[in-house]
Formats: sequence, C-alpha cells, structure tokens
Amino acid sequence: MDGRTRRTIREEGFGERVEPSASVVSLMNIELEKESSMTAQDPFAGFKAVQKEAWSLFTPMEVFTTPAAAKLVGFAGVVAGQRLVDVACGTGVVAITAARRGAKVRGLDLSPVLIERAREHAQLVNLDIDFADGDAESLPYGDNEFDVVLSQFGHMFAPSPDLAIGEMLRVLKPGGTIAFSTWPPHLYVGRMFALIGRHLPPPEGVASPVLWGDPKTVAERLAGKAQDLSFEMDMMTPSALSPQHFRRTMETTIGPLIKLVAQYQDEPDKLRSFRAEFEALISEYFDAGNNVMRQQYLMTRARKV
Ligand SMILES: C[S@@+](CC[C@H](N)C(=O)[O-])C[C@H]1O[C@@H](n2cnc3c(N)ncnc32)[C@H](O)[C@@H]1O
Repeated sequence: MDGRTRRTIREEGFGERVEPSASVVSLMNIELEKESSMTAQDPFAGFKAVQKEAWSLFTPMEVFTTPAAAKLVGFAGVVAGQRLVDVACGTGVVAITAARRGAKVRGLDLSPVLIERAREHAQLVNLDIDFADGDAESLPYGDNEFDVVLSQFGHMFAPSPDLAIGEMLRVLKPGGTIAFSTWPPHLYVGRMFALIGRHLPPPEGVASPVLWGDPKTVAERLAGKAQDLSFEMDMMTPSALSPQHFRRTMETTIGPLIKLVAQYQDEPDKLRSFRAEFEALISEYFDAGNNVMRQQYLMTRARKV
C-alpha cells in the first residue's frame, strides 16, 4: 500500500486499525488477479475470491447476528438429535445455537478466518461441531444427509441462486426443514445493497442477494421442490451512536462495503458522495431515542418434497 492510501484511510476515520488497510491491499491484489482466477468450471470464481477476503472482517457483527440466530433456530423448530447444517455460517452463531439444543451440527463458510472463529466459539462450550470452509454452491455433503438446512443472511450472497438452493435441497432429506433469514429489498439492508450495487455493479450474471428477501421470488425459487412455505418478519437492532458512527461500523465489517470503500480510496469525491447517500439512508432507520438501527428481516421456512 502506498502512503497516500494509508493516509486516506486515516483521514476518513478508520484510525490506525490494521485490518481494513490489510483488507484494502488484498482486495486490490485480488482485483488484479481476477481474470486469471476465473475458471471454466466456475465463472464467478474471481467474484467469490473477493467475497471470501471481504467477509473475513465480519466478526464484530456477530454480537448482532447472535440474537437473530436464536430466532431462526426457534423458527425452524430444531430439536435434539437432528442432523443440521448451517450454510454460510460465518462465526457459527446459528450452528452453535442449534448444537446447544442437541442437534448434530455442521457448518460451512467461504471465509476460513470466520470458520476459525466459529471453531473457537464451539470449543469454549465443548460443542463438537464440524466446521469447514467451502462454497454454498458446491456443498461437500452427501444427498439427503440432513434433517435441517439453515442459513442466516448467508446463502443469499451466493451469486447463482439456483445453484445454492439446489445444493441446500440436495443435502436435505425429503420432508426435512429448510429455513433461512434474508434481507428484503425495500427495507434498510436491502436498500443499502442496492446503493452499493449502483456504485459498484456486480459482475454480469450475479443475482441480487436481496431477491431472497422477497416472498414472491422465494416462492418461485422453491416451487415444486419444497412445500408448507411460511414466512415471518423479525427485527435486528444493532447499536449506533449516530448515522455517521453506524456508517463507519458497517464500512469496516460488511464485505461488499469494504470492497466499495477500497475501490474509492483514490476517488475522494465519489467516496464523499457515496457516504452522503449512505448516511441519509441510515438516518431513515436510526432510532435516536434508543440508540439502535431498525433492521427488519424476513424468515422463510419450508419442507422438502
Ligand atoms: C452477513 S454474513 C452472515 C454470517 C452468519 N451466518 C451470521 O449470521 O452471522 C454472510 C456470510 O456469507 C458467507 N458467504 C458469502 N458467499 C458465500 C458462498 N458462496 N458460500 C459460502 N459462504 C458464503 C460470508 O463469508 C459470510 O460469512
């Protein structure tokens, strides 16, 4: 990294933190290598390589996804003895919650850094969970292996929704439960991803993650493959001192935002303009009376036919 980039990061409020700077460097390197890492087998290999690096800074957000994990595990009706996989498990918040109920749990995520953290969490409470790094679009499990397949704000980031849901249903036994939490397109997080997409369009062919937050699209994607579809809304309330404070928290933990800020490091006008739009959006959902953000999300549950 040159001195100018390092200076810009400090000036923009990142302070002296090492992680974002390191992330910027590696994201830039990955961008340069993107073409060569594309393979005939996976046209989105380069995109996933960037995702893998960018999501590795997600750990601080686990304090907010932990309560939501309890909601999803309850919504799915997880009981002792069930074989369960948490797809795109991050630091393992859903996996560990399910294992505490007595389920036999596996977890998988693109980021080895987050998987390592998930293993540490499981060790703290002596839970035997099989965590592995891998891709939701190519699960390393056998057909009909699980009673329950869960994903919390996770499988929605796989670039090919048909592949991801195909894999999740393949490893689920007939009659088994699939359940996931996702961000609706018209609410805060969905609108944030739309904003990011306007500044940093994804590669051609990558589906919008927030379509998984639209019940109509979910019903279409599960049609003929799952039945007894039901939906429930819930809300995550991350703490925030101001829209600016929350913007900074997001920029240092949310993969696609980290990538966008890295891209704008040498374009201060664009970065400033993005931040103005982003803070205006955050302001609409900032509950100043309680120092929280109001982030509503959708939970989906269905049974494999
Ligand atoms: C918003 S985080 C959610 C993490 C966790 N489920 C939670 O609730 O805390 C999104 C996660 O999806 C993972 N991810 C993104 N694309 C993926 C893919 N193609 N396969 C597996 N995991 C993926 C990221 O690495 C990241 O951990």
